[in-house]
Amino acid sequence: MTTTVFDTLIERRTSGCLKWNAYDEDVLPVWVADMDFHSPEPILKALHQRVDHGVFGYQFDDPPVRQVIAQRMNERYGWSVETRDIVFVPNLVSALNFVCTAYAEPGDEVLMSTPVYPPFIVAPGNSGRVATMVDMPIVRSGQQMRYEIDFDAFEAAITPRTKLFILCSPHNPVGRAWTRPELERLAEICLHHNLTIVSDEIHCDLLLDPLQHIPLASLSPEVAARTITLMSPSKTFNLPTLGFAFAIAQNETVRQQFEKATAWFLPHPGALGYTAALAAYRDCQPWLDELLVYLRGNRDFMADFLQSHLPQIPYTHPEATYLAWLDFRALNLPASPYQVMLEKARVAFNDGAAFGKAGEGFVRLNLGTSRERLREVLERVRAVVEDL
Ligand SMILES: Cc1ncc(COP(=O)(O)O)c(C=O)c1O
Repeated sequence: MTTTVFDTLIERRTSGCLKWNAYDEDVLPVWVADMDFHSPEPILKALHQRVDHGVFGYQFDDPPVRQVIAQRMNERYGWSVETRDIVFVPNLVSALNFVCTAYAEPGDEVLMSTPVYPPFIVAPGNSGRVATMVDMPIVRSGQQMRYEIDFDAFEAAITPRTKLFILCSPHNPVGRAWTRPELERLAEICLHHNLTIVSDEIHCDLLLDPLQHIPLASLSPEVAARTITLMSPSKTFNLPTLGFAFAIAQNETVRQQFEKATAWFLPHPGALGYTAALAAYRDCQPWLDELLVYLRGNRDFMADFLQSHLPQIPYTHPEATYLAWLDFRALNLPASPYQVMLEKARVAFNDGAAFGKAGEGFVRLNLGTSRERLREVLERVRAVVEDL
């Protein structure tokens, strides 16, 4: 096999990195969603130039970044976004919290499909709103799992207090890139019940199968009028610590409600965040194309390994994201698979239980690492399971 830039093993502990410093040195971390890869060269070059400029005074806006985002939405999705529709934020977890205060009152309910990225579940409660979780059914095909949406259960969970639906598209952790009919059905239900929709599309560039990402708000002007979309270059280009993300709200009232909720609470992105975002969206498509080939290879390597050596562990086939989701329930472990694997395999996954009750007995595996490390992780799990 030819090696690529993504095969380079980079020592990350020296950079204050969360993923590699949270556990003992002998633990292989495949948890928090960042990648063990360098960011693309054009971003590094742009950051060097910005640092060399040497002045870091206030910066509340960046018209070229607005322009490049609007253009990207138009070109990639045929979604006509105006530069004024964009609101810059430093990260999306904060935005997930502020949408709850912007579009719901204390005691109101916020709907979501579970298992889901833990901050979705926690955010409503942080401001006295209530998370309503609707579990997605699993469709099995051999060892492979595919999550779907039970639209009847979804609609049945809506009450007069439900004000907001937070969609994860593509979905973390189950790796689905929702189809147009699925999105249309969800939007139809939300419109029917007058819900505001927050569509977290942070994983939109990371499609591993030959599918097209469809921004929910691009479905129709009616859907756009009720939707605020959250995006960021941070997952795609591995930049979360640079503090740049954005929201798109085409309806002025929806946008103003968000701006009002965040003003003076949420800082603007930092200068290096704007710089990296511009370079990412303008100059890094060739790198992204190579990344997707590598991630697809990791996903398929994992599937082959599990099929060959760990047939007791069903797994998702991530259509998008670099996150896989493994079901350890058939092993009847004495504790959560997260704990058992941490203690015995010295591998740190994400504990599935944090993704909602539907995640108990599961772990999330981050495939954004070198093939060699991924092999080591899977070999360690295999050794423990064979020893049970
Ligand atoms: C769906 C989703 N939203 C938001 C985030 C985090 O975004 P940020 O780092 O901008 O807070 C993640 C990170 O994994 C994610 O998967």
